[in-house]
Amino acid sequence: MPTTLIVTAHPEPKSFTNAWARKSAQACKALGHKVLWSDLYDMGFDPVERASNFKNHVEGAHFDMLKEQDEAAEKGTFASDITVEQDKVCQADRIIFHYPIWWFKEPAILKGWCDRVLASSAMHTVDERYDNGRFKNTRALFCVNTGASAYECAPNGKEGDLEMLLWPMAHTLRYLGMTTMKPVCAHGVHSYHEGDAKIELERYLKGILDDQINVIRDFDTRGIIQFNSDGDFDDNGSLKPDAKCHSAFVRHGDS
Ligand SMILES: Cc1cc2nc3c(=O)[nH]c(=O)nc-3n(C[C@H](O)[C@H](O)[C@H](O)COP(=O)(O)O)c2cc1C
Repeated sequence: MPTTLIVTAHPEPKSFTNAWARKSAQACKALGHKVLWSDLYDMGFDPVERASNFKNHVEGAHFDMLKEQDEAAEKGTFASDITVEQDKVCQADRIIFHYPIWWFKEPAILKGWCDRVLASSAMHTVDERYDNGRFKNTRALFCVNTGASAYECAPNGKEGDLEMLLWPMAHTLRYLGMTTMKPVCAHGVHSYHEGDAKIELERYLKGILDDQINVIRDFDTRGIIQFNSDGDFDDNGSLKPDAKCHSAFVRHGDS
């Protein structure tokens, strides 16, 4: 049975984001899966990396974050809250990220979790990344909610294509070797509606929560977000002319 790490990033326990995250946990448990839980706000996770986080940092010395992380990995001197999170990521077969889209991306607390937890040498090295990433057997899923409508989050929508907004997070996980499944998205989530529109939104959100058991059960059969393999790039790191393009983020010339 898989072990699932649920990472949720919202300051309000009663928010839709956290209600959805709890549904993920319940669904995993109902299916007999082991659940690991990281509610970043509830934990008081500090997303801000700084020299003083490193026990071995010499005060006044130039703070080179990658090298500090390398040294902490070698000497086992990461702060204990970081080690706990790294252990959870290492144990997980699946990671489900629950968060609202804030300013077209993930909340800063989750970005900071990536900066600090997915640390150099501890989770990746130059030789162990992308196709050779350490987390080749880990599958991730984004369950994200937007205030904007599904139309506005579509590829031709004025908020920008949500799948593209998720690309930098998915690419972070790809760097570690993980596979990221196609996201589950709830749109138009806000508390400004009144009357029938409010009732309709509540019905829609209840449907999303009720469906989470199916999302978890069918996890492995979801589509995946495609990335180029290492062999698609030449020695300079440029996409080879005959390689397939999976995203506007990595494309041929000006196409
Ligand atoms: C700081 C901030 C930035 C936001 N930026 C976006 C955005 O870029 N796109 C969007 O669709 N909604 C945006 N929203 C709306 C949130 O996505 C929405 O409030 C959230 O999904 C509602 O879920 P919740 O009840 O769990 O908070 C933003 C909200 C806040 C507070």
